[in-house]
Amino acid sequence: MVANWKMNKTRDDALAFIYAINENLPSCDKVDTVICAPSILLRDLVKRQGDNLKIGAQNMYYAEFGAFTGEISPVMLQTTGVEYVIVGHSERRSLFGETDDMINKKVKAAVEHNLIPILCVGETLEQRELGITSSVIRKQLENALEGIPSKDINNVVIAYEPIWAIGTGKTASSNDAEVECKNIREAIKELYNALAADEIRILYGGSMKPSNAKELLKMPNIDGGLVGGASLDPNSFLELVKDCL
Ligand code: PGA
Repeated sequence: MVANWKMNKTRDDALAFIYAINENLPSCDKVDTVICAPSILLRDLVKRQGDNLKIGAQNMYYAEFGAFTGEISPVMLQTTGVEYVIVGHSERRSLFGETDDMINKKVKAAVEHNLIPILCVGETLEQRELGITSSVIRKQLENALEGIPSKDINNVVIAYEPIWAIGTGKTASSNDAEVECKNIREAIKELYNALAADEIRILYGGSMKPSNAKELLKMPNIDGGLVGGASLDPNSFLELVKDCL
């Protein structure tokens, strides 16, 4: 269960949150709990993370060092002690101009630096209405994973996030979400192999909250969630984590 705080929480808010949940998280062999926080908070959170919590970044650039004002590199993330990084979130794609090619470079850089990329894919409302959702997602996957060898594929997490469901209060029905998550698993089987498809973790994201999570999480191809709004409150996030059990 992954919290995506986006551009929310001051340092004080973040520390209060982590103290509120640390003691109450189920053990890591039952569910992996991850908080993806703004970069400026990562070090503070890593220092205070309990045994059952992992910390992730929300973005990074793919080069190790250089003249890229304002960017953060995989080497820098690695030294903070984070384990995950969200790559290709639709807000990065639509608001900050990230292309499939950049996303592919970021996935590769993450894997090379032992960070687990949470690769986001998903369709717009227009694409859904045109009936091309599955082919859009397939293309996003092929582009983002190009050059990722099978030995590394299970170090990638995939999040299916229909763009029209993000932050809108509209959730994909559990059946629609399941169809796309199943297609993603099929794509991994075709691009890699059956074992990789079986083991890869596929999350649903888009207005997931305690009132709809159980329904989504019981679907066979939905392994967890990537949650924005409902991850900002510790009680709501804890409930979501427990819904994975
Ligand atoms: P939301 O965001 O849960 O607020 O819809 C999900 C996401 O963007 O990852």
